[in-house]
Amino acid sequence: MNRTGTLLLMLVLIGCGDDDATFPDGGTDAGEGTDSGIDDSGTDAGEADAGIDSGPPGPACAEALGLYVDSTCENVGPDILAYSPRFWLWSDATDKERFIRFPEGSVIDTRNRDAWVFPVGTKIWKTFSLDGRRLETRVMEKTESGTGAFNWQFRTYRWSEDGTSVTEVVDGESNVLDTGHDIPSQAMCVQCHGPAGGGSPDGVLGFGTIQLAHEDTETNLATLAELELVSETVTNDEGAIPGDEATVAALGYLHANCGHCHGPANGAVPAPGGGLGLWVEAELGDVTESAVFRTAVRAMAGWRDPMSPETALQRVAPGNPEGSAVYLRMGIRGAGQMPQIATEVVHTEGLEVIEEWIRNGTFPD
Ligand code: HEC
Ligand code: HEC
Repeated sequence: MNRTGTLLLMLVLIGCGDDDATFPDGGTDAGEGTDSGIDDSGTDAGEADAGIDSGPPGPACAEALGLYVDSTCENVGPDILAYSPRFWLWSDATDKERFIRFPEGSVIDTRNRDAWVFPVGTKIWKTFSLDGRRLETRVMEKTESGTGAFNWQFRTYRWSEDGTSVTEVVDGESNVLDTGHDIPSQAMCVQCHGPAGGGSPDGVLGFGTIQLAHEDTETNLATLAELELVSETVTNDEGAIPGDEATVAALGYLHANCGHCHGPANGAVPAPGGGLGLWVEAELGDVTESAVFRTAVRAMAGWRDPMSPETALQRVAPGNPEGSAVYLRMGIRGAGQMPQIATEVVHTEGLEVIEEWIRNGTFPD
């Protein structure tokens, strides 16, 4: 591993994988959507907040991103696929658009349904917007062969006020275009996409068996097979989450919102929170085989609610959301909050999905 790789790995190891994780983020912010700088002690890592001067306009959006064919950046190139994961990651109410492009004639190695390996040259874009205005576009490009986040380049760009140019952001930026949205530093990408992030070993988190097992949009497991973009056809059955409706919704939510830290998966480091696994695996025969059931349902939590520290909690206590650490921590922002970074606003709808499951879902032994 080269020096940058080693540094990044160190960063990752003190990030997601470590129970005492604090994020070594010097000033600006963290994570996926809005916010953060939140560490375990709940302090705010002193943002260089607000009023950031947008500076001179950056390069025109089409040329900088390599995504659009027109100068106003409305139409994407003909070889680019729009896609949408089945279960969404909450990023404080921002909207997201996602696109992917494969080099001509290449295929994704899908032999391991939980660990797709992407061809060199794959490029993936994710744009955050609020009220129809684009704020940030993140780009991953696979530049080296092999498996893992260190074979990808991670970049991110802030859009100009008028939506025609973008500027690359390296060290993060707070309160983009006065919306409260924060851009993470590029060094932080691997906290979730890297080996300590628990997701798929090649570093791609939202484009795989579980997330594409749908018929909702133009890109899904079936269309990838039709386009001959996969080495082996993957079926919706393989990506289906077993269980009743409440269980499917809850496990999908945990997969998308928690699984990139609480993974099984990469094996580089154990899942944080004492091996709490919330990433849902493909090809599950029965819900009790899932990491969620194996490590969370009826398992005792190490964490206790500071409001009643004498009470031991289960991670998920069937029938009892208020006695479940998973539910309680999702309702916190500040010290103890989950997800640990990249959100400042409790996701009420997500909390309801988890509450409904814990209260009324089926919990086979
Ligand atoms: C807090 C964790 C987190 C951080 C930090 C993070 N991401 Fe992600 N990212 C995710 C998750 C989870 C997904 C999959 C769900 C989705 O698409 O919203 C994702 C999806 C993506 C995608 C679409 C491809 C994929 O993996 O599904 C791109 C591109 C991307 N991120 C780029 C970046 C870049 C560049 C950075 C750093 C500037 C970054 N991300 C930082 C969690 C994170
Ligand atoms: C950015 C990484 C990250 C994300 C995303 C994340 N967690 Fe965590 N989680 C951690 C870390 C690190 C710990 C261990 C330190 C601690 O307890 O604060 C932890 C611990 C926990 C614990 C305590 C387990 C125990 O037995 O003590 C629970 C419960 C938990 N997380 C639930 C969740 C849920 C639910 C989500 C998604 C809604 C989530 N986490 C998303 C990093 C993350």
